[in-house]
Amino acid sequence: MASSLLRRGVSLARTTAAASPSTAARLVAARPHASEAEAQKVEPKARPTTDVKTFQIYRWNPDNPSKPQLQDFQIDLKECGPMVLDALIKIKNEMDPSLTFRRSCREGICGSCAMNIDGCNGLACLTKIPESSAGPTMITPLPHMFVIKDLVVDMTNFYNQYKSIEPWLKRKSPPENPGKEILQSKKDRAKLDGMYECILCACCSTSCPSYWWNPESYLGPAALLHANRWISDSRDEYTKERLDAVNDEFKLYRCHTILNCARACPKGLNPGKQIQNIKGLQMSGPAA
Ligand code: SF4
Ligand code: F3S
Ligand code: FES
Repeated sequence: MASSLLRRGVSLARTTAAASPSTAARLVAARPHASEAEAQKVEPKARPTTDVKTFQIYRWNPDNPSKPQLQDFQIDLKECGPMVLDALIKIKNEMDPSLTFRRSCREGICGSCAMNIDGCNGLACLTKIPESSAGPTMITPLPHMFVIKDLVVDMTNFYNQYKSIEPWLKRKSPPENPGKEILQSKKDRAKLDGMYECILCACCSTSCPSYWWNPESYLGPAALLHANRWISDSRDEYTKERLDAVNDEFKLYRCHTILNCARACPKGLNPGKQIQNIKGLQMSGPAA
């Protein structure tokens, strides 16, 4: 079907070119003295009727466990939305309903469409389809993760690591106003900027070489960013315990400041910087 789309597009373009005289030819016919250069100036760029791009997509089916392979799909970009997720949805709806991937919000909020696109981790819904002239686009699952099917990876270890840092407010003293919010100054609230925006997409952790080699013992940039988010929260009263919980050769100190995490984050966050903050506090101790 994909190749027939391509062939149809090419023959349509040829038919159109043969049927209508070019603008330059029409100009010369109407004004015989028009120079060739003048004629060239008004020649509009030929508009292709199709703009076909190849997507090479990782396929693996646990019900038919042969080796994973890349499958080619061709899409006319003129009939597709602008984002990689639009292309995946089009392929699933019109070409192969068995193609499996996660998505929900399609606007960079839920974090579920994280995958590797042309070698970089990112969200399919926020990544523009590269122009067809750039060649095929390769889409594979997040690196170094167990694959469940096609582009869907097993996030169990990632979520367990997130859970291990106890990502909720912990207090020792009873609330001053029971049933009401625990207030925070604007300055203290601003300390959470750069962390609260995380959507747990795992683009950072799965781009980190230290996490690739020690995925079970190193917490990884996403979990450590959240550890620092609660360590930095003025309302939380377990700062020392939180610091002690991650003060470990593997859990924290496998970070070697490689900073792939910052490059990969689709929300523009810098987990490496937050990890540096935890390391600094391990040396100096939490502020009184
Ligand atoms: Fe995703 Fe960025 Fe959060 Fe990492 S820090 S999980 S890349 S949003
Ligand atoms: Fe990895 Fe980021 Fe540290 S890429 S090594 S977590 S700075
Ligand atoms: Fe929700 Fe892409 S679909 S982040």
